[in-house]
Formats: sequence, C-alpha cells, structure tokens
Amino acid sequence: MSTPLLEIEDLALSFAGVRALDGVTFSIDEGELFAVIGPNGAGKSTLFNCISGIYRPGSGSIRFGGTEILGTAPHRIAKAGIARTFQNVDVFPAMTVRECLLLARHQHLRSGALAGMIRWGRSAREERAALRRVTEVADRLGLGDLLGREVGPLPHGVQKRVELARSLCMEPRLLLLDEPVAGMNHEETAEMAATLSEVNSDLGITMLLVEHDMSMVMGISDRVCVLDFGRRIALDTPAAVVRDAAVIDAYLGGAL
Ligand SMILES: Nc1ncnc2c1ncn2[C@@H]1O[C@H](COP(=O)(O)OP(=O)(O)OP(=O)(O)O)[C@@H](O)[C@H]1O
Ligand SMILES: [Mg+2]
Repeated sequence: MSTPLLEIEDLALSFAGVRALDGVTFSIDEGELFAVIGPNGAGKSTLFNCISGIYRPGSGSIRFGGTEILGTAPHRIAKAGIARTFQNVDVFPAMTVRECLLLARHQHLRSGALAGMIRWGRSAREERAALRRVTEVADRLGLGDLLGREVGPLPHGVQKRVELARSLCMEPRLLLLDEPVAGMNHEETAEMAATLSEVNSDLGITMLLVEHDMSMVMGISDRVCVLDFGRRIALDTPAAVVRDAAVIDAYLGGAL
C-alpha cells in the first residue's frame, strides 16, 4: 500500500484550557476529496491552522508525503505543496484578478512576500509562463473574462472563486478549503461544488474540505471525518456518516 499523502496522528491543542483538538487521527490518500465537518467550535479551523503551520499543536504528528511537517514554518509548508483558502475572504480589494493571481504565483515560486515584490521585474519568459498559468486557472474557474477587473467590487461568490484560483496558481498537491461556499447562494454553491469536483478529478489535486453545507459536502466527498469538541466522532463514507447516530446527535440533527 502506498503512503497516504497526509497523516494526522493523535493531534492535540488547547487554548487556555479549551481543548480545541483532542487526539485527532486520520489520513488522506492521494487524489481523495476528504471532508471535515462538525458543529461551530469543533476544531475544524484549528486543524487547518495546525496543518498549514500557523498553530503549533501541543502534541501529535502531521506527516505530508511521509515527512513530518509539525514545527515547519507556514511558507515552507506552502512550498512543500499545501495551499489553503481562509474561512473569511482574504483578497486584496484594489488589485485586479490578474494581479492577485500573479502575485500568488510569484510569492510561491520565490517563497516569501518580500522576495516576490522585490523580484517583480524578472525575465520576460518567466513572466509569460506565469501569465499562461494564471490564464489557464482563471479559465478553468470561470474567471477568464474578469482578469482585468478589480477584486473589491466583485460579488462575494466571485471573490471566493478568486481565492480558490489563487491557491491553484501555487500548483499544490494538497488543497485545504475552509468553508468555500460560505455566504454563497444556491446557484453559486452548486457551481462551486462542480468546480471543486472537477479540479479534484481533472487535475488530481487532493482536497481537505471544511464546510457546513451538508448537501454540498455529501455530494462531492469521498470520505467524511466528523469532529465534536475537538474529538473525532466518526470517519466514513458520506452515506454511512449521515446514518451515524452519534453524528446525528452531535451535529446533523440540527444541520439537516
Ligand atoms: N486563537 C485562538 N485563541 C483561543 N481560542 C481559540 C483560538 N482559535 C480557536 N479557539 C477555540 O478553539 C475551539 C475550536 O475553534 P475552531 O475555530 O477551530 O472551530 P471551527 O470548528 O472552525 O468552528 P466554526 O464552524 O465556527 O468555524 C473553539 O472553542 C474556539 O473558541
Ligand atoms: Mg472554522
């Protein structure tokens, strides 16, 4: 059997006595679309912050492609191939979509925001390659016609797409998505779900998805892990998770 792409083992982290993560264990295979669900405060975003190196867990282990990454700086983790989007939209409002995507790509290639800014004037060939990649990603996400537009005035649902595009410009092996359809209407949600499925299957990018929209999660995920008060209470296929008594009791009873 091949090594899982991501292995989380016995992860624990407390904030001033609150156990945000309490012995969480799971692993994700290459190519999987894996979801983490659970009530507010269950520890989902904390888990993301541990994987992307923003929080340092009190104990446990996080291996990516077989290598321990716990304690590694966030920019090194990103460079190793883990990209993420944030729960709240986090884009530069005065930049155009094109600038936003180019910046993400340069930052990633040069590692570090400052390096990206300073070496802005690089070879024409590099610039053309970057632009090609950015245009490809934008087209795939239905942003091709918006490349010249400023991000700030764009609708929320489109900004969430720009965020996704930005993380894809980093050519990640693993993409962490924290509530990619939060605040979206029904139509935008359905489009985003289809896009994520496509990116997963066509580009082969492994995904770890946190989301409260249950029909979206259950529709596109291969497996679902359920957290409650920092603990894993279920890990199974969507069909099995929706029938799980502990999950219904802790979360789905209210969410469905
Ligand atoms: N930086 C922090 N300082 C103190 N407590 C924190 C911090 N980050 C998270 N927590 C606490 O850890 C617990 C888990 O929070 P987390 O944000 O991971 O939940 P979540 O599952 O993402 O919830 P939501 O669905 O509302 O986004 C909560 O009790 C929260 O208050
Ligand atoms: Mg959260």
